[in-house]
Amino acid sequence: MPLEIYDSLRDQRLADLRADFFPRLPAGQPLILELGCGHGHYLNAYAAAHPQEFCVGLDLIGDRIARAERKANRARLSNLAFVQAEAALFLGALVEQPAPVRLRRVFVLFSDPWPKRRHWKHRVVQPGLLDLLGKLTEPGAAFHFRTDHPGYFTFARQVVEEHALWEFAEADAVAWPFEYVSVFEERALAGAPQSFTALRR
Ligand SMILES: C[S@@+](CC[C@H](N)C(=O)[O-])C[C@H]1O[C@@H](n2cnc3c(N)ncnc32)[C@H](O)[C@@H]1O
Repeated sequence: MPLEIYDSLRDQRLADLRADFFPRLPAGQPLILELGCGHGHYLNAYAAAHPQEFCVGLDLIGDRIARAERKANRARLSNLAFVQAEAALFLGALVEQPAPVRLRRVFVLFSDPWPKRRHWKHRVVQPGLLDLLGKLTEPGAAFHFRTDHPGYFTFARQVVEEHALWEFAEADAVAWPFEYVSVFEERALAGAPQSFTALRR
């Protein structure tokens, strides 16, 4: 769905999140979040391997969320929830929630690189997004980023390094928490995916 159409649905999306989705989140348990989860390949595998953790995946595209949910239901995973939402809108609503929510890990994996400079504003990783994540995390929380687009890697690294609340760590300094090759990662393996983790100060 084009972002312009999505914006016109903003108020309804916010109301749905508040009425239907946020009440499903477990109280008092730090969450694992994937922003732009696509078909949910990675997060389904992560949730299956970490039954004590509660995972949330969100994506702009409803069909992808429906597929991700079908996978979770087939695998009978109860520690996982998916929702159709725009990343910054979702996080902004989460910050305003009366019941406090904390994030332990946030993944952004093979996010759309928007190669043309005039489209960089559409990239998911932005200073405002890290502000919101800062409000939802405690020191030590992790932000994990992986891409096969060198330009987006440099851009995201710079956004993190210039942000007061997040500390950039090279891929070999902090172990990647869990490996699972999603369809998007499989396509990206033809290139040379790069990763980093940033830790909340
Ligand atoms: C290339 S796919 C990667 C999917 C998944 N992370 C993986 O590695 O398999 C990127 C996904 O991010 C979603 N996306 C892009 N911008 C978004 C935004 N602002 N908020 C939420 N999802 C977004 C797209 O709809 C798409 O499904």
